Amino acid sequence: MEQILEMKQIVKDFANCRALDHVDFSMKRGETVAIIGPSGSGKSSLLRCINCLNRITSGTITLNGETFVDTPSGEKAQYISDKELRRICAETGMVFQHFNLFPHMTCLKNICYAPIKVKKVDKAKAEARGRELLEMVGLASKADVYTAQLSGGQKQRIAIARGLAMDPKIMLFDEPTSALDPEITGEVLSVIKQLAEEHITMVVVTHEMGFAREVADRVIFMDQGRIVEEGTPEDIFQNPKSERLKDFLSSMLK
Ligand SMILES: Nc1ncnc2c1ncn2[C@@H]1O[C@H](COP(=O)(O)OP(=O)(O)OP(=O)(O)O)[C@@H](O)[C@H]1O
Ligand SMILES: [Mg+2]
Repeated sequence: MEQILEMKQIVKDFANCRALDHVDFSMKRGETVAIIGPSGSGKSSLLRCINCLNRITSGTITLNGETFVDTPSGEKAQYISDKELRRICAETGMVFQHFNLFPHMTCLKNICYAPIKVKKVDKAKAEARGRELLEMVGLASKADVYTAQLSGGQKQRIAIARGLAMDPKIMLFDEPTSALDPEITGEVLSVIKQLAEEHITMVVVTHEMGFAREVADRVIFMDQGRIVEEGTPEDIFQNPKSERLKDFLSSMLK
């Protein structure tokens, strides 16, 4: 399978902490990777470096064959121009814990906004695709409803459709269900599961161990800014090697 993302020796420093500590991470097209780990371990930071919401301190990131940041030896990370960076980062879609939808726009407008504004897609074409995506997330009837009127689970499904509308090379999910009531997490997880079955390339940061186990091709366990263990769901959940992962898994069962 073709490599779609390669991150080498990623360091991300904030003023008084190292969020990522020499992380190597790569993905193949069509793969679903789940990232698990305790609070503060660097999971969100890793996603935010992939879609350029965070700039790395040092390391190399190559997305879809294009290296957008590199670090010559002994120097700081060097990014390509802002314009080029915006183009490359538009190839990732991100779904956040708190939806980040435009409340004053209808569902369809939310989905079509970026394709029309950023990608200059023709309005009729964008709307036709938007309606397909609404169908896909089970919300065809909500096209003309303002997102403020939706339930949390519905909002999150619109956020997923909006991410997909940009036709991203990778979809990034940062705890997409942790702001939702337990009884509606299932409707969002089943949409993500469906995307995995369609081989959309995805990274999902999640606290839902059952979901990670069922849907991921590969699971990454992070702690203190490092990838401590990675493997198949079976490796990670049935045969954890490190004490840190064993402790984390038992804390999740409590
Ligand atoms: N904008 C920021 N400024 C300063 N420090 C930050 C910032 N964002 C993250 N950090 C720090 O970086 C480290 C990693 O944070 P990150 O948000 O990546 O963790 P996480 O694994 O996503 O945690 P959680 O499960 O709570 O979401 C933490 O120590 C955090 O305090
Ligand atoms: Mg986080």
